[in-house]
Amino acid sequence: MTATLQELFGIDAPIVLGPFGGLSSVELTATVSEAGGLGSYGLYGYSADRISDTVAALRSATSRPFAVNVWLRTGDEVTPGDVDLAPAIDAVAPLFDELGLQRPAPPTEFMPDTDAQLTAVLDAEPAVLSVVFGVPSERLIAAAHSRGIRVIGTATSVAEAVALDAAGVDAVVATGSEAGGHRVSFLRPAEESLVGTFALVPQVVDAVGVPVIAAGGIADRRGVAAAFALGASGVQVGSAFLRTRQSAATDVHRNAIAGASDTSTVLTRAMSGRLARGIPNRAMRTIETAGVIAPFPAQNWLTGQFRAEAGRRGDGDLVSLWAGQAAGLATREDATDVFAELAAGVPA
Ligand SMILES: Cc1cc2nc3c(=O)[nH]c(=O)nc-3n(C[C@H](O)[C@H](O)[C@H](O)COP(=O)(O)O)c2cc1C
Repeated sequence: MTATLQELFGIDAPIVLGPFGGLSSVELTATVSEAGGLGSYGLYGYSADRISDTVAALRSATSRPFAVNVWLRTGDEVTPGDVDLAPAIDAVAPLFDELGLQRPAPPTEFMPDTDAQLTAVLDAEPAVLSVVFGVPSERLIAAAHSRGIRVIGTATSVAEAVALDAAGVDAVVATGSEAGGHRVSFLRPAEESLVGTFALVPQVVDAVGVPVIAAGGIADRRGVAAAFALGASGVQVGSAFLRTRQSAATDVHRNAIAGASDTSTVLTRAMSGRLARGIPNRAMRTIETAGVIAPFPAQNWLTGQFRAEAGRRGDGDLVSLWAGQAAGLATREDATDVFAELAAGVPA
């Protein structure tokens, strides 16, 4: 008999707040954990020190279990020495000019060292570590378990879920192509791993022994009930929570989600060099039209140079507006209300 997520994580309801790399907030994570779910916090781009501080802040905000999320390395990440950034910089030069920004000089690194991030997570001992873009090593899983940390892996295909199960993770998120944000595929190109949640979840449930958490396109009680009907043991929800006042999304991002319909989102590599789902805006179109996109994480770093300033100015044209296909169902402004709506769909 598969363990319930409640037993596995020490939570009251099998509802996971999805992590948001760059847009997680302590307030939202703690709100979901306090409500009885598993709040998650995305650590993309965080240094080891910032990870320690963030886990400490989460611990002050809630005594309930929470998860932190790390992007593993797939091996195709470029370093500053690997790429000539000039063509990609030229492609976005008008956007820098528009904001009155200098064209950026290449940094010493595009993202912090992943092993240092993982060591900081282990030292901080959150209840749960969730990972994307790969299979955690046996050593990492053993180190986590020896500290009482549960490990969640994330799959976009049955093969990825089987690899995660074989490695010994405690649960698998099966994330369908409806989901907002990055496609976290690691065995095959993301474009060839676009299985929808309805097809993915039951096939993953049939293939693995650990509990499956359904993600992608779930935003209300109907989606939760459907996920359980497909054999899931829980759900992970992103867009519906991102729209709430407790998230770290900018107002323009929140408003874009609030105004979204079923056809409002597209998949693009333009903003980060990796495929991700969001609402198109001028930045995305400018880069797509120029047709020059640096590989990940170079492109993510590059667009990050103008996204940060645009975000400060509340300019929705020059930020990333990540959202999923169910953004049109994200009508609630308070995370506690979103949680109550989702919880109403969990079978008794
Ligand atoms: C802005 C944004 C950032 C995200 N960042 C991450 C991340 O860093 N790590 C991760 O595992 N999932 C990330 N996701 C995926 C969510 O955690 C969640 O699985 C997904 O949003 C579920 O699909 P939904 O948007 O249809 O609810 C992100 C999603 C969004 C919208």
